[in-house]
Amino acid sequence: MNETGTTRNVNDLFRRACYRQPVERTPVWMMRQAGRYLPQYRAVRKKYDFITMYKTPELAAEVTLQPVDIIGVDAAILFSDILVVPEAMGMELHFLEGKGPVFPQPMRDDGDLSRLRPVEADLDLKFVMDAIRICRRELAGRVPLIGFAGAPWTLATYMIEGQGSKNFINIKKWRYANPDSLHRLLEKVTVAVMEYVKAQVAAGAQAIQLFDSWAGILDKDGFAEFALPYARQIFRSIDDADVPLIYFAKGAGIWLDLLMQSEADVLGLDWTVNIGEVRQKVKDQFALQGNLDPVSLFAPPQNIRQQVIKILEDFGAANGHIFNLGHGILPDVPVEHAQAFVQSVKEESPRFHAGSKK
Ligand code: CP3
Repeated sequence: MNETGTTRNVNDLFRRACYRQPVERTPVWMMRQAGRYLPQYRAVRKKYDFITMYKTPELAAEVTLQPVDIIGVDAAILFSDILVVPEAMGMELHFLEGKGPVFPQPMRDDGDLSRLRPVEADLDLKFVMDAIRICRRELAGRVPLIGFAGAPWTLATYMIEGQGSKNFINIKKWRYANPDSLHRLLEKVTVAVMEYVKAQVAAGAQAIQLFDSWAGILDKDGFAEFALPYARQIFRSIDDADVPLIYFAKGAGIWLDLLMQSEADVLGLDWTVNIGEVRQKVKDQFALQGNLDPVSLFAPPQNIRQQVIKILEDFGAANGHIFNLGHGILPDVPVEHAQAFVQSVKEESPRFHAGSKK
């Protein structure tokens, strides 16, 4: 037991790196690590559809733990989806095979705002909280458990487009024609996400990552107005919770001055930026997470190792790096390549921490 009365993680590399404390080696996990590249995931998925999987706590917990056992990552991330929040707000959600998520009745104007109801996370999303409790019990401190949510801008994008999109015409039309009502939608979503992440932490989540996967469809002023302030409001609302807060705003690495106003502990980077250059700019204000191009995992393991070394060298001998991909792992990556990636980080990173003491 530690001073807060909780069992100390056996492997707390991830938490220490998030707070830029010394580590013996760089911790590593992968976005979308609980997913289809694993035969063990596909075996469960063959028996149940995706929605049944995330709504059944025992199944969600089972696949959450798979990459910890099979790949050896330093953190587990809860198996769920960002779209459970709009679903809990009353939007009907389908996942179509081979197509992905669809809201058959997307939000299209002001009038649709009244369709959204507030979320009572412990009731409406009880299946998530139960999954978190099972994961914590079964992990028994082996590695920490990361909870997550979609950031309001990205959730609103799905709610308005109804599905993935090429030009995001519907949300952008709304933004340019009626920005005030788009802000009202974002405010409603923000309140729901605040409730949701607070409940996740209470149930046992040991870090929170906000996914702003569609940040990069905005221009800089748009990011400053419609994405960043809502993510920041959520971070502020759980700032006293003693869990690391991670902001992954894909495509936003070019707006580092804005990302630095996010009030997260960790900035997640996609593969488009050089992590060493970002570190120079953020200095010791943030830890950084990333940022290997997920497509590079198709290369042979010796090439993956070289890519890993390059990123470790770029980051340099400093505290505050959590190794990850620059976006989610792709479904047809060979498992051995994912293992080689994680193994390379474990083997190559200690020399960058040689002077570190626990
Ligand atoms: O990281 C993890 O392993 C935890 C689980 C997780 C999933 N989705 C499982 C999932 C997380 C963190 C997410 C987040 C998520 N969901 C995001 C943000 C991250 C990102 O990739 O940008 C987004 C945009 C979604 C919405 C979503 N869910 C899409 C677009 C799709 C279809 C595309 C796809 O990858 O199939 C999903 C489905 C989904 N979410 C699957 C998984 C494992 C595939 C479901 C299946 O088995 O068919």
